[in-house]
Amino acid sequence: MKVIGCIGCGNMGGGVLRGLVPHKEFTLLGHDHTRAKVEGLDPENHRVVFADSPLDVARRADVIILAVKPYQMDAMLEEIRPALDESKVVLSLAAAFSQEKLRRGVDGRCAVARCMPNLPVIVGKGVFALCLDDPALGEERARALFDMFHLMGMAVIIPEAQFPAFSSLVGCGPAFALLFMEGLLNAGITMGFKAPVARELIAAMMEGTARLALESGESFADLRVKVCSPSGTTIRGVNHMERCAVPGHVTDAVLEALRRDLEMASGK
Ligand SMILES: NC(=O)c1ccc[n+]([C@@H]2O[C@H](COP(=O)([O-])OP(=O)(O)OC[C@H]3O[C@@H](n4cnc5c(N)ncnc54)[C@H](OP(=O)(O)O)[C@@H]3O)[C@@H](O)[C@H]2O)c1
Repeated sequence: MKVIGCIGCGNMGGGVLRGLVPHKEFTLLGHDHTRAKVEGLDPENHRVVFADSPLDVARRADVIILAVKPYQMDAMLEEIRPALDESKVVLSLAAAFSQEKLRRGVDGRCAVARCMPNLPVIVGKGVFALCLDDPALGEERARALFDMFHLMGMAVIIPEAQFPAFSSLVGCGPAFALLFMEGLLNAGITMGFKAPVARELIAAMMEGTARLALESGESFADLRVKVCSPSGTTIRGVNHMERCAVPGHVTDAVLEALRRDLEMASGK
């Protein structure tokens, strides 16, 4: 699995190809309506080669990553089908597009796999869910795919039934975190920081907090208590957030995203 091709090089497809640029063991191909999106992924060394069409990607790649919108998937699968054989893997990044639909789309000609990425893939810090249980894939190729995504952040293998939950939590998560950061930004500006300064401070604080949670292994609640000195400032802010039911609203937002994912999967 040396040649990795991606069809659709927007946020997700472009992010994956860019994430693979430093890994010279892979030959990288991309196709997009906009050629500049592909050529802009590695402007210095041109490691990502523009392929003329989706079919061209499918002919030349061992792993064909589909990173177009879910409603474009059926047409895309039909277009690349003539190039598919058992030496290839079609791996979809599309939300709410099942392996069963993928299998139908490739007409049993090759192995299929699903991956759910998230936006930080763009900076090599993606969190990826992988479903690699297609018997046609085999253990060796499944392992190779897992290792490849692990190079670009963190990869986990989950059953397909958990994809909607992963997608709502981790796929949508960056949007929820960014909305929270917008609230902090407004506060920072209100208190007199220039917007770019506040933006940097907040992003660094969020990155540090996430790193602390990952490395300490302590519960989020235990870590929070460490910041809340008796009669201090933080507990006043935390009490306000609890009164406004912020944690409950965040939970509801994720569950709302889940409802939409399930609607989309049922064709609505
Ligand atoms: N965004 C997220 O956070 C996220 C998270 C998890 C999964 N996903 C999934 O990832 C997939 C891609 O999402 P995205 O956010 O990366 O979308 P995006 O930024 O719009 O990228 C899709 C790209 O594919 C191109 N494209 C579509 N049809 C094409 C065709 N027939 N030939 C060539 N290029 C074509 C589009 O070009 P035009 O714009 O010119 O049509 C666009 O550049 C979706 O299926 C989505 O469900 C997204």
